[in-house]
Amino acid sequence: MISLYYFYIICFSSAVFLPVESQIISAPVGSTVVLPCKWRNITVQTPHVQWSNVFETVFERKGVEIYEGEGYENRVDVPQDNLLKGNCSLVLKKVRISDEGVYESYMSVKRRKRASTTKWVLLQSIELAVYDGAGVKNPRLQIILLSLLLCLLFRRVQV
Ligand SMILES: *[C@@H]1O[C@H](CO)[C@@H](O)[C@H](O)[C@H]1NC(C)=O
Ligand SMILES: *[C@@H]1O[C@H](CO)[C@@H](O)[C@H](O)[C@H]1NC(C)=O
Repeated sequence: MISLYYFYIICFSSAVFLPVESQIISAPVGSTVVLPCKWRNITVQTPHVQWSNVFETVFERKGVEIYEGEGYENRVDVPQDNLLKGNCSLVLKKVRISDEGVYESYMSVKRRKRASTTKWVLLQSIELAVYDGAGVKNPRLQIILLSLLLCLLFRRVQV
């Protein structure tokens, strides 16, 4: 009964509230996950990209200079070659349960030509769900994901 309740709630809310760009990515513990991001349409000379979660800056790159957040040392990167080609995807290695959450990427943009003030433009928002080998950590999350799937299938059948 409870799962049916979730099904209706999620089916309804996913149709109403989820913006087009919002993405949920799930990854098993210990794997490498790529959080996708593109920045094509912004005019910058040296791309200065930042990925952060609700608590801290996870990764930052400006040219060859990088910053890695606490707990993310040696696990995160936005490869410079990719970044210059407009691909600001974050590579996160050795995924941990504690990595679960929402990640947002920003690009630093100058307000005016030659101005020293910059602003951060939001590029992408990704929700990362992490599960261990034995299954999804959070059973509610499992139900939510299943409901989303059923919801999508259900809608396809209706069409
Ligand atoms: C892309 O950039 C051009 C020129 O800077 C701008 O006119 C246009 O609105 C931008 N498009 C989007 C989708 O941001
Ligand atoms: C973007 O970069 C990520 C990680 O560096 C890579 O896995 C992915 O294939 C790239 N995407 C494209 C379209 O090049």
